[in-house]
Amino acid sequence: MATEGYEKLMTDLKNLRLPVMAEMLDSYAKQAASSSMSYVDFLGGLVSEEVIRKEQRSVQNRIKSARFPVLKSLDDFDYSFQPSIDKKKVGELSNLRFIDNKENILFLGPSGVGKTHLATSLGVRACESGYKVLFTTLNDMVSVLMASMADNSFPSKLRQFVQPSLLIIDEVGYLPVSKEGANFLFQVVAKRYETGSIILTSNKSFADWGEVLGDSVIAAAVLDRLLHHSTVFNVRGDSYRLREKKKLMGKEGKTEQSTTEQSTLLR
Ligand SMILES: Nc1ncnc2c1ncn2[C@@H]1O[C@H](COP(=O)(O)OP(=O)(O)OP(=O)(O)O)[C@@H](O)[C@H]1O
Ligand SMILES: [Mg+2]
Repeated sequence: MATEGYEKLMTDLKNLRLPVMAEMLDSYAKQAASSSMSYVDFLGGLVSEEVIRKEQRSVQNRIKSARFPVLKSLDDFDYSFQPSIDKKKVGELSNLRFIDNKENILFLGPSGVGKTHLATSLGVRACESGYKVLFTTLNDMVSVLMASMADNSFPSKLRQFVQPSLLIIDEVGYLPVSKEGANFLFQVVAKRYETGSIILTSNKSFADWGEVLGDSVIAAAVLDRLLHHSTVFNVRGDSYRLREKKKLMGKEGKTEQSTTEQSTLLR
């Protein structure tokens, strides 16, 4: 079908950056010729092929710019290993209304219980649904903001953590935070308060945050804002990382009953 009109159409589609339409034109034209496809269905079919491919590409771009350390999915989460996680509650959160409502999620618990897995899975789901997401550890965020003070890029770096619809702050509590670091966390949390969602993971209970942030007043102010509109998961149990080892040793770990009640965590 190398007529002049065809060649021009191919060139125009490429110039308009519609490569999928160009690629599929032949097969659609053949299909249209051998059936009673209307002009509208012909064009509509071609256009939706392009739209689907563009959407797939933008999901990939959003996932890439979210900077997840490893991609995780809620489908791969084994709730039978971790009965302290309420599957129904996670399911409700996966509809992502918490992002529209600017609410926060906090996963607290010891090492290896799936905090980062759940946070990342919800983040990936958000990327797939069109939200801009950024994943960071607290330590990385503090380092970026600290370094930005030296070259006067603080306002733009702060924006980087404030703008995404969902900010995931992982690993609060493992490494000590300087007073300046605690101030940076406060600024990010305060700027996002009721304007953007945060998912945060921590191995420390709220009562220990004063120590983690080196300042009990800042810790209280950060927690006050984080918890006002939030869902808290207090995950108790064994490390999934050590599961295989324990199986080999013939002593499958037992999990304690958990509570997701904020009040018990706030002590
Ligand atoms: N219930 C689970 N089902 C399937 N995989 C799990 C489960 N819990 C944890 N994992 C896997 O185990 C590993 C450790 O989990 P994850 O990194 O989420 O732990 P964590 O709670 O964030 O630990 P840490 O506090 O040390 O960072 C990951 O590979 C994760 O995918
Ligand atoms: Mg983790």
